[in-house]
Amino acid sequence: MSSGPARAPSETVIKSANPELVGTPGAGHVARGASLAAGALVHESAYVDEGASIGSDSRVWHFAHVMGGAVIGARCSLGQNVVVMNGVRIGDNCKIQNNVSLYEGVELGDDVFCGPSMVFTNVLNPRSAVSRKAEYKRTVVGQGATIGANATIVCGVTLGAYAFVGAGAVVTRDVPAYALVTGVPARRTGWMSEGGHALVSDGVDSAQPDAEWLRCEGTGARYRRVGEVVSLDRSAEAA
Ligand SMILES: CC(C)(COP(=O)(O)OP(=O)(O)OC[C@H]1O[C@@H](n2cnc3c(N)ncnc32)[C@H](O)[C@@H]1OP(=O)(O)O)[C@@H](O)C(=O)NCCC(=O)NCCS
Repeated sequence: MSSGPARAPSETVIKSANPELVGTPGAGHVARGASLAAGALVHESAYVDEGASIGSDSRVWHFAHVMGGAVIGARCSLGQNVVVMNGVRIGDNCKIQNNVSLYEGVELGDDVFCGPSMVFTNVLNPRSAVSRKAEYKRTVVGQGATIGANATIVCGVTLGAYAFVGAGAVVTRDVPAYALVTGVPARRTGWMSEGGHALVSDGVDSAQPDAEWLRCEGTGARYRRVGEVVSLDRSAEAA
């Protein structure tokens, strides 16, 4: 008879290669009142507070801190020094690279990539002597979006699905789905596919002259752009 929750087969391999990983509330610095789904593993140097929830097969690496009320999906990776504060929600299959802090008000969809040392914010006009806890702004990152290394996201914006923020950019406005933005302040300099390749022009849609076809340089998949709205053309898949 099995005792305890079912474990993913990969857990045994990963744990034996990294004996300092723990997978049970009450072990290491994981609070008894934290929730770890099957296969979730936390490095013994990381702290997971009471009330935090970590989805199945997720990994929390060295010196990270997940606060109570944070909800992390399945198959996520939280790198060294990552901090996830109260109320933050992270979808499934997200990769948070080293030195990233997710402040209250930040929400990540599924498959989001946060590059090393990128910066979220949650107060627009902070002053040390003035409490602005009631004024935290929401920052929403759509499914599949990528934020490059060392980029800064000024709070209160939405990054659309599969948006791509170049390394070092400072985002001050909403970013449309599939848009590539770079620079300070970040401006749209291109479009990126779901697989992270440039989308290049493939001519206008003869049926609708204000619509442009875009082609993924990596896979050849077709997208359609009308103004600043880009969508994946699924008609080829259906045919
Ligand atoms: C934005 C990015 C995707 C562009 O890649 P690319 O299409 O191969 O770009 P190129 O190297 O062809 O450069 C095209 C132009 O954009 C500029 N450029 C490239 N990346 C830039 C960036 N992050 N910010 C500002 N300008 C950038 C280049 O200098 C070049 O300008 P030029 O035409 O005046 O010479 C890439 O540079 C980037 O920032 N990737 C994120 C990397 C990262 O953070 N990874 C984290 C995981 S380790």
